[in-house]
Amino acid sequence: QKIVLAYSGGLDTSVLIPWLKENYGCEVIAVSGNVGQASELEGLEEKALKTGASKLYIEDLTKEFVDDYIIPTIQAGATYEQYLLGTSFARPLIAKRIVEIAKAEGADAICHGCTGKGNDQVRFELAIKAFAPDMDIIAPWRFWELNSREKEIAYAEEHQIPLKINKETNYSKDKNLWHLSHEGLDLEDPANEAPINVEGFLELGVSPQQAPDEPTEITIHFENGKPTALNGETMDSVALIEALNKVGGANGIGILDIVENRLVGMKSRGVYETPGGTILYAAHNKLEEITLDKETKHYKELVALKFGELVYNGLWYTPLRKALSAFVDETQKTVTGDVKLKLYKGNIIPCSVTSPYSLYSAGMATFDEDDCYDQADSAGFINLFGLPIKVRALQDQMLSEQ
Ligand code: ARG
Ligand code: SIN
Repeated sequence: QKIVLAYSGGLDTSVLIPWLKENYGCEVIAVSGNVGQASELEGLEEKALKTGASKLYIEDLTKEFVDDYIIPTIQAGATYEQYLLGTSFARPLIAKRIVEIAKAEGADAICHGCTGKGNDQVRFELAIKAFAPDMDIIAPWRFWELNSREKEIAYAEEHQIPLKINKETNYSKDKNLWHLSHEGLDLEDPANEAPINVEGFLELGVSPQQAPDEPTEITIHFENGKPTALNGETMDSVALIEALNKVGGANGIGILDIVENRLVGMKSRGVYETPGGTILYAAHNKLEEITLDKETKHYKELVALKFGELVYNGLWYTPLRKALSAFVDETQKTVTGDVKLKLYKGNIIPCSVTSPYSLYSAGMATFDEDDCYDQADSAGFINLFGLPIKVRALQDQMLSEQ
């Protein structure tokens, strides 16, 4: 028996290695997807092997994550209840690579450490089904005996698994290049204020309150809806997000504290840090304000809602998500230009926007004299646009006179 394990090195997936070996008598091959979680990958191989894995794959997925998952979602303007989907779109990519490795290794099953109460289990398993419809999936959280933190920790200690957890601050976190999520502990009660001003809670930046009293001005350039330069310097997409995380984090940008509706039905409270991502969404939207026509922009907002739902619900590899992406791609042909913003204590203040494809016509909009808009046209336009209102009012009048 060979089982491929989606491995992060955290408590849950560390415990899974000896647990799988004991319960299935199998060889465990651990796989970690590098989606920009950087420091979490240090010492991972040693840890996995020491814990009993026969191999650890660390797959560098960062570039693919940014170009094929993050940027298409920015272009769609998709969020889920304001959440910028940082975990949601990473899971399908990691799962896709795990399937590739499982096939290459001739594995019998794929195991993950998601609980039976969350969204991640759905995202992992739908992606596995999309690429390996017959693969066995093992989700021990749904049936194992280690169903509390205490039992897990005791099991880990028995099996010499190195723990670096401190109970008080042991939030359930998920980190990648795009975001860091915090769930659990005191956050589970929405009556508790999130400790964003408490030293050590935020990891990608500071709180608005702690941010500098002077704004930082930045300019982002987009080509066909893709961010390509920061402050005039052309940058690779990964480096650009890293740079925006830094400047955004320093200015308290992108901290979101929400109670969200999970796919499995419950409400759950999370705090998200998405500094660079929040800036990119704001800048991209700003550019679309002048480069998209009204009807396309409005329709795109409907698409964004659906796109966000699909991503959140783990439906990345579906015909509908792909079809919506095709729509979004078509809209991005003119989304080219520069957006200047000020970052100030958690706020993103738009300064200016320019584009060779700008549909904004100063002549049309001006309060001053112009030679392109005939105000006399409005009388006829309003007569027809208002016809149903007028007909109805005439009828009301007639009925009330009877
Ligand atoms: N609630 C968020 C989501 O569903 C974040 C989940 C974080 N996952 C985790 N394993 N810590 O996308
Ligand atoms: C989990 O339950 O495994 C993490 C949270 C989630 O998937 O929503």
